[in-house]
Amino acid sequence: MDEKLRKVTHVENIRYDKAAEELVILDQTLLPNEEKFLRLTTAEEMYDAIKTLKVRGAPAIGICAAYSMYVLARSIPQGEEFYSTLEKYGAYLNSSRPTAVNLSWAIREMLKTAQENLSLSRPALLEALYEKAAAIHADDIAKCAAISEYGLTVVKDGDGILTHCNAGPLATSRYGTALGPILLGTERGMKFRVFSDETRPLLQGARLTSYELQRAGVDVTLICDNMASIVMKNGWVQACFVGCDRVAANGDTANKIGTSGVAILAKHYGIPFYVLGPTSTIDMNCPDGDHIPIEERDPEEIKNMWYEKPMALRDVKCYNPAFDVTDHSLITGIITEKGICRAPYTESLAALFDNKK
Ligand code: MRU
Repeated sequence: MDEKLRKVTHVENIRYDKAAEELVILDQTLLPNEEKFLRLTTAEEMYDAIKTLKVRGAPAIGICAAYSMYVLARSIPQGEEFYSTLEKYGAYLNSSRPTAVNLSWAIREMLKTAQENLSLSRPALLEALYEKAAAIHADDIAKCAAISEYGLTVVKDGDGILTHCNAGPLATSRYGTALGPILLGTERGMKFRVFSDETRPLLQGARLTSYELQRAGVDVTLICDNMASIVMKNGWVQACFVGCDRVAANGDTANKIGTSGVAILAKHYGIPFYVLGPTSTIDMNCPDGDHIPIEERDPEEIKNMWYEKPMALRDVKCYNPAFDVTDHSLITGIITEKGICRAPYTESLAALFDNKK
């Protein structure tokens, strides 16, 4: 593999060093200017890393939470209170961000593992928890690879692809979801022209997606969010690829704020709009988008965060939802590690979880 690509697809955004018993993350808030790694040791540091987007992207949040639960379990003495204390830590971490379902999913998986192994000795119980976290991590690598393969089947060499936010290796592991087909295709000698929405207000597209793609040698053009329409009108976009934070049972999909606008534009211009994500992001207990909790964040992110001086009145009212919901009717396909789901999503998504198949 080309060295530039390898550096990007093998980035260690989350690493558990078993010999040193250390959970290490790459601080994504400092990219692209600085690559700094942080050691997370306390529940407060873990909560803060997720809340402030030092680690971000639905699958990456889940992986970080899984290792965090293992680290916290190591701090609890074995005894009657072991499980209830771990449950409290899980509830605390889960309250850091509400929308990405991978967070609660990973915490639940870790608690289930703890419960199943409570009768074991302390070292064996901790080992089972470590193995579960490592399996969630390894599984995401495999899922991203499979999603990338399926995603490649809906585009061809030379296509223009528009993406919103960041759903690359930094947000997951290895190839990523929405960026996976682009990176995998590049590895195979295909050429794509990618338009990366800047993604106001936290600039994941500018800071992370264009950074990842350019470093991987992909032809990437950064645009402001309000420029998506013109590049589509110009005929430069043959497909939209976005990630997801929670997919409801009817296919309604929460993703970074601005995603639904891209989908509406894509429909207007007749461009296929694909959502890419692992099955761990599908919430079959959530009937539709109206039931997805939408995180609201600090107005300072809009008014001040990226400017030398404030760019809005200090007391102006702000509304800062971090995600929006794209209606299932706007989605051409939901690309998972198990294949591509198409409408009617109530049936195609349910079939993914049908154990008889
Ligand atoms: O607030 P963020 O940066 O965590 O939002 C991330 C997104 O919306 C991603 O598109 C989504 O989590 C998918 S990551 C593979």
